[in-house]
Amino acid sequence: MLIFAHRGASADAPENTLAAFELAIEQGVDGIELDVHLIEDELYVIHDRYLHRTTSGVGRVRNQTKASIQQLDAGGGQRVPSLWDALTCIKGACAVNIELKGLDNIIPLVKLLDQAVEKLSFDVSQFLISSFNHHLLFELNQLRPDLLIGGLTASCPLDYAAFADRLNAYSVHIDVDCVTPAFVADAHSRGKQVYVYTVDELEDLDELAAMGVNGVFSNRPKPALIRRAHYLQSAEPAPLAVEDYSPSAD
Ligand code: G3P
Ligand code: MG
Repeated sequence: MLIFAHRGASADAPENTLAAFELAIEQGVDGIELDVHLIEDELYVIHDRYLHRTTSGVGRVRNQTKASIQQLDAGGGQRVPSLWDALTCIKGACAVNIELKGLDNIIPLVKLLDQAVEKLSFDVSQFLISSFNHHLLFELNQLRPDLLIGGLTASCPLDYAAFADRLNAYSVHIDVDCVTPAFVADAHSRGKQVYVYTVDELEDLDELAAMGVNGVFSNRPKPALIRRAHYLQSAEPAPLAVEDYSPSAD
């Protein structure tokens, strides 16, 4: 089971910042998930459509200029990184799941990933591009079938993972509240990996591991990595108390 740091190691560093990505790499994650919006001709790493939750700014992300977004504080003095800055920081150390949020065409992304393969230490197979916008994913697959696609769903689809077939997706990314053994079995029968978000509780991790889920996105990847090491070492369930695990407030 792969462990992706969701928005970086975002429980312990400001989400979607270089600090969160560096911490995730230090913790030994398999991958980093991050969210991108297009501002002018450049992709920036930020989750929300609005600035106020995660930065010192207010207003819509899409109304920013490169100059205005670059001067914001994204927490603890961190900046909102461009995707290029993020990839320069990660530099092939782990996989990168780029979730497309605020953009309406995939050309800027494709150009940037080609440069990242050329100039940074990435193999193209380290990129996994996901989105709730299946139109964008479809367009991407038509243009660049070599890029891996993750079909995101925030619902519990009646026809399970069938949507992933139409996208020619490598993986399906589903909410922890919706994934079931039947969904996992259906996805696997279609040859799709199943990645689940957002998994911050070890009880959930244990259940998902038993279901045969292939990966999880976690805001606290470190306890998940420790827990996974127990799975690998022993067939017996590990004790739930993990040294540096503290349950989330919500
Ligand atoms: O990519 C998994 C997850 O991040 C999707 O939801 O809202 O956290 O971007 P969200
Ligand atoms: Mg995301």
